Amino acid sequence: MLKHEDNERICRVGPGTPAGELFRRYWQPALLSEELPAPDCAPVRVKLLGEDLLAWRDSNGRAALTSAFCPHRLAPLFYGRNEECGIRCVYHGWKFDADGNCVDLPTEPPASRMKNNVRIASYPTMELAGMIWAYLGPKETMPSAPDHEFTRVPAKHFHVNKTFQASNYLQALEGGLDTAHSSYLHNNKLGDKSFLRNRDGAPKIDVHKTDYGYCYTSDRNAGEDGRYFRVYQYIMPTIQLRGNVTSRTGGKAKVPKIDGHVWVPVDDETTCIYNFAYTYDETSEFSPEYRVEFDIDYGRGPDDVIPGTYWLKRNASNDYMIDREVQRTQTYTGIKGINTQDMALQEGMGAIVDRSKEILGSTDRPIVTMRKMMLEATHAVERGEAPPGVDPASYRDVRPYDGFVPHDADWREVIGDKIRAKW
Ligand code: FES
Ligand SMILES: [Fe+2]
Repeated sequence: MLKHEDNERICRVGPGTPAGELFRRYWQPALLSEELPAPDCAPVRVKLLGEDLLAWRDSNGRAALTSAFCPHRLAPLFYGRNEECGIRCVYHGWKFDADGNCVDLPTEPPASRMKNNVRIASYPTMELAGMIWAYLGPKETMPSAPDHEFTRVPAKHFHVNKTFQASNYLQALEGGLDTAHSSYLHNNKLGDKSFLRNRDGAPKIDVHKTDYGYCYTSDRNAGEDGRYFRVYQYIMPTIQLRGNVTSRTGGKAKVPKIDGHVWVPVDDETTCIYNFAYTYDETSEFSPEYRVEFDIDYGRGPDDVIPGTYWLKRNASNDYMIDREVQRTQTYTGIKGINTQDMALQEGMGAIVDRSKEILGSTDRPIVTMRKMMLEATHAVERGEAPPGVDPASYRDVRPYDGFVPHDADWREVIGDKIRAKW
């Protein structure tokens, strides 16, 4: 349960709001690199933390993230000409470079100095892990580059896709930190007890706070196999990592990997979810076929997406194409795709859920802890302090784990340095 004012405090992300200012202390993925495939390609509309922006790649290949509107009479720069290291507004030809400087102002006399005083907003960017990251905060608090294991791994061992979701980011993040639901919502083989998560639907959850957020563990009784133990990592504000080295039935996974998400607030009522994975080590890499399989598993394969967008065809307008016969006989939801199952529930709560009405249980501990940390972090930013997870040194060596632990063993001894990054 969360008081109405605290709910507002951590959900609203526009400029000047407490959570908006908190998010502006971190580098955030703004779009995929593939959306700007070449120098001088078509620009892309980007909304991030409630701000309307335009992403474009200049003639030198540099990714720019600038204001979406021309400062002259506020025409959309989306229709602009991306040419010779600048975006030119097609209304009256004013042109801006990637740093936001006006480099041509053809409607004024040649001797005019007006262009020296005209600018558009421009945010710093960098490209890591197939994503273009942006920093929207104050210059003096800009952290050094994100340095996660997944931003260091070579491209052939890494895969990422993205999906938009019509809900506030916090609902989506809470879904990611809520491991108990996978035994229900994502049970795609009804009655199959070979599935580890079907053997014990009440995992014991523990949360261990760290400088970057926390790690949390889920401990399931897997019978003769011991305990199916997972160590998840939560890196503030909205990154989650989990191991998938063990297959869903307990053997070795076909491609041992680590999965993760970044939930990025587009505005108060829309979230962009980056779903990524990287191989556990250099002995395997992602084939083109496996990449498609990964996307399909998430419900966002080539046939699942509305063409030209990152929105799913299965959505609220068609009840996520729920198949009640499949729900009766095969899967828990009758909805295809892991992402889509999450979205059906999280979007269906309403754009911003009223947390003053909820009843939380023991499996919600990671969610409660995250909310407290986010709230405290908004206050820390207001006091002029750096929030957790800003300094890459705090999370650089982190990785998650999944596997078996004997019934009577101490998990820390069994797992040891398997939760230290290898890449
Ligand atoms: S509105 Fe852009 S140049 Fe006039
Ligand atoms: Fe889920």
